[in-house]
Amino acid sequence: MRINQVISLSQFIADQQSKHPEASGDLSKIFRDIKFAAKIVNRDVRKAGLVDVLGAHGTVNVQGEEVKKLDMLANEEFKSSLTLGGDCCAIISEEEEDIHHIETTLNVNSKYIIAMDPLDGSSNIDVNASIGTIFSVYRRISPIGEPVTMEDVLQKGTNQVAAGYIIYGSSTMMVITTGQGVNAFTLDASIGDFCLSHPDIKIPKDGKIYSINDGNYDRFESGVQQYVDYCRNSTVKEAYSARYIGSMVSDFHRNLLKGGIFMYPASSDAPNGKLRLMFESNPMAFITEQAGGKATTGAERILDLEPTEIHQRNPVFMGSPDMVDKLESFIKG
Ligand code: AHG
Ligand code: MN
Ligand code: MN
Repeated sequence: MRINQVISLSQFIADQQSKHPEASGDLSKIFRDIKFAAKIVNRDVRKAGLVDVLGAHGTVNVQGEEVKKLDMLANEEFKSSLTLGGDCCAIISEEEEDIHHIETTLNVNSKYIIAMDPLDGSSNIDVNASIGTIFSVYRRISPIGEPVTMEDVLQKGTNQVAAGYIIYGSSTMMVITTGQGVNAFTLDASIGDFCLSHPDIKIPKDGKIYSINDGNYDRFESGVQQYVDYCRNSTVKEAYSARYIGSMVSDFHRNLLKGGIFMYPASSDAPNGKLRLMFESNPMAFITEQAGGKATTGAERILDLEPTEIHQRNPVFMGSPDMVDKLESFIKG
C-alpha cells in the first residue's frame, strides 16, 4: 500500500509515455538528464557566496553580454549531463555561438535536440534573487546518424516536443510541458527528487500584474506606451500592480500562477527586443499556451515565428489571455 500519493517527475513522465505505446522512452531519458544537471546547478546556486561561483567569468558571450561564472558552470553541467545520457544529438545554447554537436558512440542514434538558456537572470545571480534555467526539446528532421544541420536546430516553436524551466527560488521547482498541459515539480531536498506539487497549471484568464522594464518606456512604440499608461492609471477598482525582477523565469512564473502579463517589447535602440527566440521566447510561449495563455510579438504568435538564426531576438508579450488581448488592441490602435 502507498502511504501517500507523492508522484515523482520520473514517474509522471513514464505515466505520460505509457499513454503512447509507440514512444521509445528516450524523452524520459532527456528529462532524467535535465533533472540531474538541474540538481547540480541547484546545489551550486545554493552555495553561491560560500564558494567561488559569484561574479564575472571575464568573457562576453556571442551577444556581447558579460558572462557570469554561474552562466558558464550551468552551461557545462547541462551539456555534460545531456552528453553522458546519450539521448541528445545536439545542443544550442545562449552561451554557445554555434551548434554543439554531440558525436559520441552513445549519441549516434539519438534524435533529440535541446535548446537552452542554462542560466536566466544573470543580473540577479550576485544579489541573491531568483534565477532559472530554460529548455526546449525538438526532434531532429534530418536522418539519425547524419550530422545535425541548421534546419534541425532552427525549428518553429510549434515543433517543440517538450519545454520547461527550473526556477532556483525560495524552493527549486521544475515546470514542464510535453504538450499535454503544464505541471510543476518541487525539489524535495530530503529525498533528492522533484515531486509533483502543482498539477495541471492554468493561468488565470485575466490578471492584475504587469511586468516590464519601465526604464525603457521612452523608447517603446506608442501602442506599448499607451498600454503601460492604461495599467499605470488603473482605478482603485482595477488596481494593476507593476512587478519586475529582471529574471524572465521568475517574472514569468509569478504571472503564470497569479495571472499577469510579461512584456519585453522592441525599443528604438533594440528593434527586436532583447529576449531570444530559441532559448527564452519559444519555450515560455509553449508553456504559456499549454496553460491557457497567449504569447505574441504584438504582431504574430511567437510559436509561428520562422527562426533564421540561433541567437535571434523578438519582442515578447505573454501571459493571461485577456491582458494580452488588451495589449494587442492598443498596439493595433
Ligand atoms: P539572461 O540572464 O539569460 O541573459 O537573460 C536575462 C533576460 C531575462 O531574464 C530578463 O527578463 C531580461 O533579460 C531582463 O532584461 P533588462 O535588465 O533589460 O530588463
Ligand atoms: Mn535569459
Ligand atoms: Mn542566460
